[in-house]
This record gives sequence, C-alpha cells and structure tokens, in this order.
Amino acid sequence: MTTEDWPVSLLPVIKRQVEEPLEESRLRATINSLTKISDGVSSSVRDMYEQNPYRRWMNATIRRYDMSVSEVLTSDPILIELGDYVAPDMPEILVAGCGTGQHAIQPATRYKAAQVTALDLSLTSLAYAKRQSAKLDINNITFAQADILNLDEIDRQFDVVECVGVLHHLEDPLAGWKTLTRRLKPGGLMKIGLYSEAARQDVLAGRKIIFEQGFEPTADGIRACRHYIISAASQGDPTLAQLCRRSDFHSLSACRDLIFHIQEHRFTLPQIKEHLKVLNLEFLDFEMNFAGQLGNFREELRGLSAENRLDKWHAYELENPDTFRGMYQFWCRKPAQ
Ligand SMILES: C[S@@+](CC[C@H](N)C(=O)[O-])C[C@H]1O[C@@H](n2cnc3c(N)ncnc32)[C@H](O)[C@@H]1O
Repeated sequence: MTTEDWPVSLLPVIKRQVEEPLEESRLRATINSLTKISDGVSSSVRDMYEQNPYRRWMNATIRRYDMSVSEVLTSDPILIELGDYVAPDMPEILVAGCGTGQHAIQPATRYKAAQVTALDLSLTSLAYAKRQSAKLDINNITFAQADILNLDEIDRQFDVVECVGVLHHLEDPLAGWKTLTRRLKPGGLMKIGLYSEAARQDVLAGRKIIFEQGFEPTADGIRACRHYIISAASQGDPTLAQLCRRSDFHSLSACRDLIFHIQEHRFTLPQIKEHLKVLNLEFLDFEMNFAGQLGNFREELRGLSAENRLDKWHAYELENPDTFRGMYQFWCRKPAQ
C-alpha cells in the first residue's frame, strides 16, 4: 500500500506525523554546531527542548517589508525613538535561542536585506525551524546549534541581537546577557524578552502545585497536572483560573515550557535597570501592543530619561500587574564607542 492508497482525510495526519518528522531527522544532520554545550543547566535545558520543542507552530502570516531596521523600529506600531542611529544596509542579525523558528522569521522578513543567524541548544527545535522556514520560502536564515554562554567562541559581531524568552532559562541570566552584549557591534541594537515577576504569579502558583503534588514532566504527568489545576480553578481559585487562560497551558510542549521548566528566573524593572547599567546598555523602549491606556501612558513618558521612564513603568506595573503578562520585551543600545 502506498500513501496514494490512503483515504484523503488521513493525508494531513500522515504528513504531520510521518513525513515532516522524517524530513526533520534528515535536516538535523545539516545543522552546524558553533559552540560547545558545557554548562550543566544548558545541557538539561537542551534535553528538555529536545523532547518538547517550543513551540510546534503550524502557520505563519508572512509579510515581507522593504524597510531598514530604523524605518521599521521608528514606524507605527513600534515607534521607538532611535536618535542618531544609522541603520546598516544589510543588517546582520543574531537570534539567540530561536526555538522552532517563529522568532527568527520575524527579523528575517521585516528588515530589508537582513541576514539572520539563528541559534539554539535544541537540534529538534532547529530542524523544525529549518523545515518550516524552507516551506515558507525564507532563505536568509542560517540555523546553528550553540550555547549562548559560549558565544565568545565565535569571532563575529552583529548589528542587531535578539534574545526573547531565553535568558531567564539560564542559571545565570546576566552571564548570558554579557556574552550577547560582546557579540553586538558598537552602536548596535538589542531586543531582549524577560519574564516579569508581577505578571507570572499564576505560573508560580502552578509551579508550586507541581512541586507539592510531584507531577512528572511527562505527557501523562502534564495532563494529570492540568486536570488538577483546571478542577481547582473551576472550584473558584482565581489565580489558577488565570493560568488556565494562557494559551500555552493547552498544548503539551508549551505547557511544559510554561509551568514545568527546570530553570526559570523572573525579573522586576528595577532589576532590569540595574542589569542594563552593569552591561552599559541604554534602554530605548518596550515593543508591545500599546493599544488604549498603555499607549497614552507611553506618550506621557516621551522626553523623559530612560531611567525615569523605567521607574514610571515600574510604578505602573505595580498598579497593573498584568501589563507585561507576555513578557518584558524591550530594545536597548550599545554605545557607539
Ligand atoms: C521558550 S523558547 C523561546 C524561543 C523563541 N525565542 C521564541 O520567542 O519563540 C526558549 C529557547 O531558548 C533556548 N535556549 C535556552 N537556553 C539557551 C542557551 N543557553 N543557549 C541557546 N539557546 C538556549 C531553548 O533551547 C529554547 O528553544
């Protein structure tokens, strides 16, 4: 029996469950390794994402822009003030911790003539990313395996470095952030995404349940844990009800990333401000959906110093703890000299 003999309704299942995984196992062998992975936590985190890549996305709406880095970042909806920044003609972009590729595709398609290097610990994630980006006909991303902590092993600097949803999974996030800063050209731009302590109290409640009840990070363990949390939420626990509203809660791999992670740090804005000072990076602004009240608040802060704006955002977040529910995602800049 060949695949042509299968009922048509089964073909998408065969494609997803058989053909695509086969293609990914072929692609694994084509992905170079740029650094060693020597750190203990990095190795455990890699093992986790080898089993459960984040996340197995299916469709993406690709819109190719014909704009430079500064045109994209200063235009609606991002509207970041870049001062005297001069955008490179062919920006070299590092996406550190690219996961399954959705993140890398964004800079590859939104900046004109971009060349993206996308790194991750997990070969399973990278193979998924490579297959998906080829399917979308995106040819300006080079995927490679590397540990952020060992990026000094590569002799290269980038115009833009993006690292979203990754540094908080390192044992020492600041050590990783320092390595990334060394890979950024003087005057270059960096986009960072970090978990907010205030916005993740529901996740923290979920993690506490896992610890107390001893749920295992296996498919059965994750399902049992979800069942437990959903029933506690339906009995009126508002924090757990909030956790159930997160989309990541409802798929196995994403749920493992959400509440079963072996290494998670959370940050406050004062801590981020301190880190930026240590790294000698200038805070520019957040990239997020500034609809409504948030946009008005941001406008009120225009013209204030970066430090002042971070203090005001911190006060705002204390009043509105869900503000950075997705993550803090912000741009910063390395001094030109
Ligand atoms: C939650 S996923 C985020 C993926 C992607 N940035 C996104 O926003 O969709 C975290 C990814 O970071 C990777 N990662 C974690 N620690 C890393 C390290 N030390 N070096 C490189 N990648 C790392 C993991 O393998 C995983 O794929």
